[in-house]
Amino acid sequence: MIVLGIESSCDDTSVSVLKDGHILSVAVNTQLEHIQFGGVIPEIASRAHLKNFPEVLEKALSDSGLILNDVDAIGVTYGPGLVGPLLVGVNFAKGLAYSLKVPVVPVNHIEGHIFANFIDHPEIEYPFIVLVVSGGHTEIVFVPESEKYELCGKTRDDAAGECIDKVSKMLGLGFPGGRIMDEYAKSGNKDFEFFPRGMKNSHDFSFSGLKTSLKYYIDKHDKEFIKSNLNNIAASFMDSVTDSLADKLIRAAKKHNCRTVLLAGGVSANSMLREKITAQSVKKGLKFFYPQPKYCTDNAAMIAMSAFKKIQKYGIEKFSFDSELDAVPFLPLSE
Ligand code: KG4
Ligand code: ZN
Repeated sequence: MIVLGIESSCDDTSVSVLKDGHILSVAVNTQLEHIQFGGVIPEIASRAHLKNFPEVLEKALSDSGLILNDVDAIGVTYGPGLVGPLLVGVNFAKGLAYSLKVPVVPVNHIEGHIFANFIDHPEIEYPFIVLVVSGGHTEIVFVPESEKYELCGKTRDDAAGECIDKVSKMLGLGFPGGRIMDEYAKSGNKDFEFFPRGMKNSHDFSFSGLKTSLKYYIDKHDKEFIKSNLNNIAASFMDSVTDSLADKLIRAAKKHNCRTVLLAGGVSANSMLREKITAQSVKKGLKFFYPQPKYCTDNAAMIAMSAFKKIQKYGIEKFSFDSELDAVPFLPLSE
């Protein structure tokens, strides 16, 4: 069974080839057009996907050693995400599926992030608790069985990734800030300054107060001080973000008496977050899984894996070429 995965929900154009549950290749073009604006511009992203898809498809196919005619099914992200970018990916998938006469498997982007864990860890068993943490989402989900999702808590304002990106910009470290902040924090002292932890006693998250407190902190100190303490400030800030994320995940696992915890989404590549959850998991005897960094941020391998899991569960006959398939920008995880 060869599945082609297609992802374009934000600013990464990606195609992946999967064979019998194993990823053969994944090609990603992360659009650099947005750096000068300090954020993703939807129309520029849509046009860049339009231009990039043929090249990214070529790369994924040549790296896999297969040809287009080998493909048995196409998995594509149809939401949630930016509507223009999603439409380009859905239409590209439909065009390919129409000409190849193969079925399309529609995939929820967030479900894709969760299934990314199965790429390197097919041994993961249900039930599990997963922290989905990206630029657009921060939520804890209890997953009792395949494709059943119960929301345990979510952000009331900013997503963690959004907050990290904004603070990185305030500190003059650039966009997107996650990886840069991670690197600075590694050489910093996390006890340099204490920043608040939002909604400490709730299952939900809040990051906007933390963002504001960073803004006050930066305004209060002179530029030279900030510049010479970037690593310490990054470490203290990331300590606050990761304390909230790790504590609530472990608490949710306890509440549901669940022995397995997972990370999903771009921020799950963060080293401090992984270290904290690893330490807590060891202490509490939990199994802890997370995807390798290239499968944490947006990629089509997670979409191919989700499509494969659905084909395994329901059979290929359940899926067809659906000319009605459309982009759904606010698609919920479970309906
Ligand atoms: O999942 P993703 O690629 O796109 C969305 O669906 O949003 O996540 C992107 C987010 C960005 O906010 C980015 O700064 C953050 O993930 N990120 C990180 C790291 N790598 C990416 N945040 C913290 N540490 C990292 N190493
Ligand atoms: Zn994502």
